[in-house]
Amino acid sequence: MSLLQVENLSVSFSTPEGSVKAVSGLSYTVEKGATLGIVGESGSGKSQSVFAILGLLANNAQVSGSIKFNGRELIGLSEQELNRIRSKEIGIIFQDPMTSLNPFMRVSDQLSEVLMHHKGMSKKDALNEAVRMLDAVRIPQARERVNMYPHEFSGGMRQRVMIAMSLLCNPQMLIADEPTTALDVTVQAQIMHLLKELQRELSISIILITHDLGIVAGACDHTMIMYGGRMMEYGSTLDIFKTPSHPYTQGLLKAIPRPDDESDELYSIPGNPPNLLNPPAGCPFAERCCEAGEQCEARAPALEALSGARLRACHKPWTPPHRKEPPAAGARLELEAGVRGDVI
Ligand SMILES: Nc1ncnc2c1ncn2[C@@H]1O[C@H](COP(=O)(O)OP(=O)(O)OP(=O)(O)O)[C@@H](O)[C@H]1O
Ligand SMILES: [Mg+2]
Repeated sequence: MSLLQVENLSVSFSTPEGSVKAVSGLSYTVEKGATLGIVGESGSGKSQSVFAILGLLANNAQVSGSIKFNGRELIGLSEQELNRIRSKEIGIIFQDPMTSLNPFMRVSDQLSEVLMHHKGMSKKDALNEAVRMLDAVRIPQARERVNMYPHEFSGGMRQRVMIAMSLLCNPQMLIADEPTTALDVTVQAQIMHLLKELQRELSISIILITHDLGIVAGACDHTMIMYGGRMMEYGSTLDIFKTPSHPYTQGLLKAIPRPDDESDELYSIPGNPPNLLNPPAGCPFAERCCEAGEQCEARAPALEALSGARLRACHKPWTPPHRKEPPAAGARLELEAGVRGDVI
C-alpha cells in the first residue's frame, strides 16, 4: 500500500465572481521514502493540492475525491484529527519560515512547546531534544543558538529551524512548499542537500513543490507537471527530463537557460495561464500550445497511461521514445546532475 493515495482530487473556491476551479481531478501516489516533485507555473494549483492533504484550505473551499494516508481517508476528518496528523504524521515547510515561527518566542520555547504538548516530555527533556534537533539540521553551536529569537537567524538558518520543527514528532511525510525560493542559490543547494540527507536517515517521504526544474532533477524520484489545476504529465524524473511527452513540459524544459545557447533571448512559453474562474472547456494549455488542434479546444484530454508509471493528458499521439535519443533541449544540465543524485 502506498503511503499517500490521492484519487480524483478537486478543489474549488466560492467567490463573489463565481467558482474558482483551483485543482481538477488529480490522482497520484507517494511511496514510503520516495520524493515527488510538483512543478508548474504560478497559480497552477500546486499549493492548494497539498493544502487539501493537510486540511489547510481556506473556508471558501470545496473538496472532492479521496486522500488516503496510510490507508486512512483524510477528507472529512475533524479539525482536531487533522491537527494531530499535521503535527505528528505529516510535517510541512513553507517558503517563508516566519509563517510557522513565532517572532516573539525564543526558538527553544517554540520547539520545546511542541515536544511537551505532543510527546509529553518534561521541560528539561524537551529542551535537550530541541538542541538535538537543531544539531540534526546542522545548526552550529545549537546549545547556544537555541535561545535565540527567529529574527536572529539568517534566512537559511531559519529554514533549518523550520525543518527541525517539522521533524520534531517523527512524521512519515514532509510537504515542502517552495522551501528554497526565498534563498540564494548556495543556501538553496545546502537546504536541498540537508533535506535529502534527512530523508535517507529517517526514511521519510517528501512532496516538494517548486518552480525550479533543476531542484526537481536533483532531488525527486517522480515528477508531476501541473497546469491550470490539472496534471499534464507524471513520471519518473528521468523519463520526464529525457523524453518529455507533453508540449507544456517540453516548453518548461526549453525555458531553462543553457550556457551553450548562443541566442540572446531566453525562451519563455508565450501567453498566460487560463483564468480558473472560467476555465476553457478543452485542454487548459491549448491556447498556448503550438501543436494544438481542434479537438484540444473542444474537450480536455483524459490522463492516459503511456508506459510504466508514466501518465500524460494530451490529444497529441504519443510514440514511445527511442531510448538512445539525446535529452530534450534544456534538460541536459539538470540530467547530468540529477541522474547522479547531486543537489544543484
Ligand atoms: N481562498 C481562495 N479563494 C479563491 N481562489 C483561491 C483561494 N486560494 C487560492 N485560490 C486560487 O487557486 C488557484 C491555485 O492557487 P495555488 O496557490 O495552488 O497556486 P500555486 O500553483 O501554488 O502558485 P504559486 O506558484 O504562485 O504559489 C489560484 O488561481 C488562486 O488564485
Ligand atoms: Mg503555491
